Amino acid sequence: MSSVVELQNVSFSYNGRPVLHDINLAVYTGDFMGLIGPNGTGKSTLIRLAVGLLTPHHGEVRLLGKAITRFRDWHRIGYMAQKAAAFNTSFPATVQEIVETHLRAQVRSAGHLDSTTIRKKVKHALELTGMEEFRTSLIGELSGGQQQRVILARVLVSEPEIMFLDEPLAGIDYPSQQLFCSLLQHLNRELRITILMVTHDPTVIAGYINRLACLEQGTLFTHDGQEEIRGELARTMDSHHHLVYHQHQLP
Ligand SMILES: Nc1ncnc2c1ncn2[C@@H]1O[C@H](COP(=O)(O)OP(=O)(O)OP(=O)(O)O)[C@@H](O)[C@H]1O
Ligand SMILES: [Mg+2]
Repeated sequence: MSSVVELQNVSFSYNGRPVLHDINLAVYTGDFMGLIGPNGTGKSTLIRLAVGLLTPHHGEVRLLGKAITRFRDWHRIGYMAQKAAAFNTSFPATVQEIVETHLRAQVRSAGHLDSTTIRKKVKHALELTGMEEFRTSLIGELSGGQQQRVILARVLVSEPEIMFLDEPLAGIDYPSQQLFCSLLQHLNRELRITILMVTHDPTVIAGYINRLACLEQGTLFTHDGQEEIRGELARTMDSHHHLVYHQHQLP
């Protein structure tokens, strides 16, 4: 199996305060991997290191088999930041414009695309996320769940092979979370897009992911396969399905 994302002995500190210590992670082609961990443990930091927004102080990040320092194919990587959909309700852009502007920005760095192709790609991304009918709506007028879909369409429009999603389920209700997860599962299975997704609610993703990574006190643990994932999640939930306690044996 080939790994599409690799962190090798990665350590990172903010202003001398260590956040991640000697992290090793391999995400393989076709994985739908969840990343969980308490607030402030460094999940977003890990994702930002993986997409090159931060540089590790020690260790190496590799994307699609290349050291990130030499990686140039950024259109193959999709990234949805935490709270990406927190739009002001008066934000003056339509759904179509949000997605199209992103593609045009990508195209400027990756070469030329004519207007017809751009329109087709935008339409396709909106169809994939079920947002075609809202293309002329202002983004700020949509519900939180619908906005998340538009942001996902914006990530999808450049046809990435890997998507890094930082808490895309935050602030949306349970049925919308389920819908969003089944959409991601479809993209993962049918379009073979590899996904690494940060979430706070592992019960929602339990049936969808094939691998789980848990970040705790700067250390990462991974669990493979449905049985192990369910066992791990059951261990950390109370009877109301809240994450109450999640602790591995730290070395
Ligand atoms: N730009 C920054 N400068 C300094 N410290 C930061 C910065 N960003 C994050 N931190 C700190 O690094 C630690 C990890 O932050 P990070 O945002 O990666 O955590 P997280 O696991 O994503 O948390 P959450 O679940 O709340 O999103 C936190 O203690 C945070 O305060
Ligand atoms: Mg975060």
